[in-house]
Amino acid sequence: MIDRLIDGVRARRGVRFTYLPTVSSTNDVAREEGYGDGDLIVADYQTAGRGQRGNGWESAVGENLTFSLVLEPDFLPAERQFYLSKAVSVALSDLLIRHRIAARIKWPNDIYVGDRKIVGTLIEHDVQGAMLSRSIAGIGLNVNQTEFGPMTVIPTSMRLETGIERARLPLLDEFYHLFNIRYRQLRENDLTEIDRVYHERLYRRDELCAYRLPGGASFRGTIRSVAPSGELLLEHEDGTVCRYLFKEVEYVIPR
Ligand code: BTN
Repeated sequence: MIDRLIDGVRARRGVRFTYLPTVSSTNDVAREEGYGDGDLIVADYQTAGRGQRGNGWESAVGENLTFSLVLEPDFLPAERQFYLSKAVSVALSDLLIRHRIAARIKWPNDIYVGDRKIVGTLIEHDVQGAMLSRSIAGIGLNVNQTEFGPMTVIPTSMRLETGIERARLPLLDEFYHLFNIRYRQLRENDLTEIDRVYHERLYRRDELCAYRLPGGASFRGTIRSVAPSGELLLEHEDGTVCRYLFKEVEYVIPR
């Protein structure tokens, strides 16, 4: 069954599609020679799944989508690399919204439903001169998992949000299609639409909430927007708007 679905995806999209039951990390496989623009590596289980901030990524065997998409965005200046993150996040939220899940983009590129995390994304870039040469977009989308071990974030899944169990590969096929629409917008430099949707779906935008600095001090502030460079623009209670890079500020999310 899985083979038939893979062949379907491959034939329709004309991509190299590698399915591996177990792998260390699909992002590591995607770095190997021979993979090129548009190729997908999907695994049922990762023994060393990697997350942001040096964290791991845990996902129950065969219940979710853990995959990496290889891209060669040589049209994108390295200083605009955040636009690739935006295109991926917007496409992931497009997918979830099509499945009637109220997805929001948590800066820089997680997807949340309410205060619960449904997708994690790890994007790794290679640069040649001033341009991106190769990017690996590693995505962990919680599809059917309903029980999770202890985690630093509160997880959720498509099944927990809707009660519906879904076949994973058709979802991947749908994501691939939606991503290609956003990727085309990026290639054609149609950034206004990607910016508009990213901003519209930004988690906590215009809400007064709690944040923490790396030293441990917490404060309340309001996310106003994200700069084209990818910095978060957060307004403090005294009205000052500060720019934060990833790792310079942390969300405080009630459990
Ligand atoms: C995060 O939120 O911390 C990012 C998680 C990214 C997980 C995905 S699963 C597929 C790909 N392979 C990895 O090792 N990580 C990414």
